[in-house]
Order: sequence, then C-alpha cells, then structure tokens
Amino acid sequence: MRLLVTGGAGYIGSICSAVALAAGHRVAIFDNLGHGHKAAVPAGAELVEGDLLDEGSLRDAVGAGFDAVLHFAALIVVPESVARPERYYRNNVVGTLNLVDALRQAGVRRLVFSSTAAVYGEPESVPIPESAPTRPASPYGNSKLAVDRLLADECAAHGLAAASLRYFNVGGALHGLGEDHRPETHLIPNVLAVAAGRAEAVELFGTDYDTPDGTCVRDYVHIEDLAAAHFLALEALEAGRHDVYNLGSGSGYSVLEVIETARRVTGRPLPVQERPRRPGDAPRLVASSQAIASALGWQPRHDLEAIIGDAWSWMQEHPNGYSD
Ligand code: UFG
Repeated sequence: MRLLVTGGAGYIGSICSAVALAAGHRVAIFDNLGHGHKAAVPAGAELVEGDLLDEGSLRDAVGAGFDAVLHFAALIVVPESVARPERYYRNNVVGTLNLVDALRQAGVRRLVFSSTAAVYGEPESVPIPESAPTRPASPYGNSKLAVDRLLADECAAHGLAAASLRYFNVGGALHGLGEDHRPETHLIPNVLAVAAGRAEAVELFGTDYDTPDGTCVRDYVHIEDLAAAHFLALEALEAGRHDVYNLGSGSGYSVLEVIETARRVTGRPLPVQERPRRPGDAPRLVASSQAIASALGWQPRHDLEAIIGDAWSWMQEHPNGYSD
C-alpha cells in the first residue's frame, strides 16, 4: 500500500512507519517537525515537511495519491492542554478536519487515527471497555474525543473507512527508534533518565491514591504490539464504518511497580522523591482490549519488563536522544 503517515517523525508515528516499510508498504511522512525529529524518519520513507493547519501544503501532500492514512500528528501534553486549550482544539481538531477534507477531495478513503484512553477520564471501574462513558478530564482528551466523533460522522455521511485506536500507556523501542519527547513527561523515560544518570531522582506524583500501594495504576503496552494493531485495523477497515478499539495489555501496574521493575532491568538503585499529585491523573486506567482481540485476533506479546528493557537499550544507544 501507499501510506501517508502524519506525525511520522514522532515516537509512535516513526516506529509505525518503520514497521510499514518492513512489511513492504511505501511511506510518505507529513510532519511539521514541531516536536518530531528528522533523525527519527526511517530510511526509505519520504519526508514532506508541512503542517495540518496549512491547507494548501496538506492538499498537495494528500493529492500525491495514497491508499490510506495513518494519522498520529497531535499535541499530547495534558497539563499544557489545560493551560492553553485553544492550541489543542486548533492542532488536534481543526488539523484533523483539514486532513479529512483533503482526503475527501483527493478520494483517499481509509484512515487509522491515534486516539487515547484519556477520552474515558476517570472510569467507574476497570478494565475499561469501549462502551464505557467518555468523560475526558482535560482539553487534550476532549480534543481526541472530538476527532473520534468527527470520524464517526464522516464515515456515516461520506463512506470514509476509519478506525480510532485508543492507546493506554505506550512504551519500548523498535527498529532503532525510541521515545524522545522534549520536555519528557512520561513515566518510563523519566525513570530511565535517572538510571542513565541524567536526573537525580524519580519524581513520584502522588502516594495517597485509593490503590493498593497509593500510587497510580496504568496499563503499559509495547510499541511493537501497538504498531501491529494499526495494520490489523487498517486491513479490516470498511467503507462507512468507524471502528473503535482500546489498546492495552489488560494488566495494571502502579508507579512504584514500574520503578521496581526498572530497578531490576537496569540494576540501578533509582532513588525516589515523593511529590504531590499531578493534576488530572486518574487513579487507575486499565484497558479491556477484548474487542480488538475478538474482532481482529490482536494479542499483546510483550510484558512490562520487555517494554522497560527495550526502552533502556534504546536510551543507552542514544544517551542524548535524537541528534535533530
Ligand atoms: N509519573 C510520575 N513521575 C513522572 C512521570 C509520571 O510519577 O516523572 C506518574 C504519573 O503521575 C502517572 C503515571 O506515572 O500516575 C503515568 O504517567 P505518564 O505521564 O507516563 O502517562 P499518563 O497515564 O499520564 O498519560 C498517558 C499519555 C497521555 C494519555 C494518557 C491516557 O501520555 O497522552 O496516557 O491515555 F492521555
């Protein structure tokens, strides 16, 4: 297939691009390099520098002729979205609307979208099925849910074939590509930065949650398993239908359990500094991924130890992250 990958210079987009290339697809990456890295663009992919908010360059890029789009480009920092919601609605919602318009005009009728567990907000119970109420706790989650709804409506009205994949906590590395957000807010890379000697102690946000050890529980999924789900979802798309799938492992780990696993994997002591709760964190987010398992046969194969181990290997090979 000829694939257009928005956000393909970012963590998840670059690795999904590399997986696509390895499977024999042709890949063009559309990225404004605002947060992505040129060095993360896999060999063999074409890079088109452009912004979803620039309708002209987007139309030109989409018009080159594609069978499908994998749409990763988005702003993702929850507290920033609280402080500057307009940026999130503009980039994530208006940007996607521009993309959907350009796809309709160019006759590209298949799309897989990076949605998020953040659409569920604070769930009533875990594991969370796709049918759980959607009550995002942040403008970031609202912007992703707005796109899920936009895609459902576009499928119904114009025969688009789309899937929204609601990621839980993604980690790990693959094909020599890894996680390098600036600033980094995610737990695993922050813990490993301490192991690498780049920070003195792990900041632990909140120890008084109603969870077994008082720290937040999350569901970690390896980037290789996550990437595989995109291609299963892509193959199964049908005109006029919007598929929605959670992507997680179904197992929850507390922040302290993640730190303990990282101690084992790295052999480093990893001192911890307790901090107050981080605003907007839900105590417990664990996926039910039963829907994608039943419909498409998806099963995650890597556990938390493998996720942390692969992230650690990548960090040791790239002590300063990407060069550009
Ligand atoms: N945490 C720390 N110290 C850190 C970083 C994180 O204690 O240095 C804690 C957080 O407070 C939270 C847990 O570790 O309790 C996980 O935090 P992450 O930032 O790694 O992940 P989140 O669950 O907050 O967020 C992820 C994605 C978001 C997405 C959300 C729900 O990064 O984009 O899952 O899908 F919205």
